[in-house]
Amino acid sequence: PVPVLKLNNGVEMPALGFGTFAKEGVEGKTYEAVMAALDAGYRHLDCAWYYLNEDEVGTALREWLDKNPEVKREDLFITTKVWPHLAEPDDVEWSLNNSLQMLGTDYVDCFLIHWPFAAERTEDRNVELGPDGKYIIKNGLTEDLSPTWRTLEKLYKLGKARSIGVSNWTITGLERLLEYAEIKPAINQVEIHPFLPNSELIQYCMSHNILPVAYSPLGSQHQVPTTGEKVLTHPELTSIATKKGISLVQLLVAWGLKRGYAVLPKSGNAERIKSNFCLVELNEEDFEAVNKIAEGRHCRFVNPKEMFGYDVWSEESTK
Ligand code: A2P
Repeated sequence: PVPVLKLNNGVEMPALGFGTFAKEGVEGKTYEAVMAALDAGYRHLDCAWYYLNEDEVGTALREWLDKNPEVKREDLFITTKVWPHLAEPDDVEWSLNNSLQMLGTDYVDCFLIHWPFAAERTEDRNVELGPDGKYIIKNGLTEDLSPTWRTLEKLYKLGKARSIGVSNWTITGLERLLEYAEIKPAINQVEIHPFLPNSELIQYCMSHNILPVAYSPLGSQHQVPTTGEKVLTHPELTSIATKKGISLVQLLVAWGLKRGYAVLPKSGNAERIKSNFCLVELNEEDFEAVNKIAEGRHCRFVNPKEMFGYDVWSEESTK
């Protein structure tokens, strides 16, 4: 069985979740992937307004739950997030309501602020992408997210989100948030894999009762690594997995779970979705072997400066 992690408000989250970010944006792909994930046994789905595919997630959810009446909505853990251009209180509410409508549910299990900054909203609330496909940040950029957080707190109290949290936040940002948060964030969803073990951030989060959730735990195949190395083809990691008779993804998932946080592997392929869900126990020796490969690394694949043209983590720019 998938281990269950308890959030700081007592809500329980399956530690292994399914990422629904479909970069390809091919219609129908998300629907198929979510159906395959639910069939495989995933009960935790990680969604976001910005993925622009929550309607497909919703269709899959409805259909799958209809076909599998023994599983109820309350057996699932569903996360969604609000994008930076919808950070004004009214827009945050609109965003969650819009996500709920598309997902076909009247609450989410977790609602996150997707990035630690707010940008001015577009007139029609749609995201604006430049000719290069990059997100355009309009005027009105701010890192003061207290009005946004207040709105998450309000939505939490209304029961529209069973827990609230953040994504892509550093220690500096969390310190600021903890000063004004009446309801403490339950989660910080960040990039974590052996090339970005993020140990200091994980330790900070855990000591403040904030659960880290790892996105791109496989090292994100879509991004060009600055080191030229890829997690999924790393020879030493491969040899540890081979020796154990498991796949490299299974090793990466087991490593994350043993480190004590939730892990969100993503795949669009039914076979891989299924095989990634297989849980294995890591012994100390293998755990330490992966730790050793990870030690001292700080290589991000997700680069907000490239995505937004804005240094979201200026406090970290020297790393
Ligand atoms: P695919 O969808 O073809 O399976 P992200 O960093 O965005 O989470 O992306 C994860 C990447 O890892 C995807 O490109 C996905 O490709 C790939 N992937 C997922 N599972 C496996 C697997 N078992 N073996 C190889 N690649 C995988």
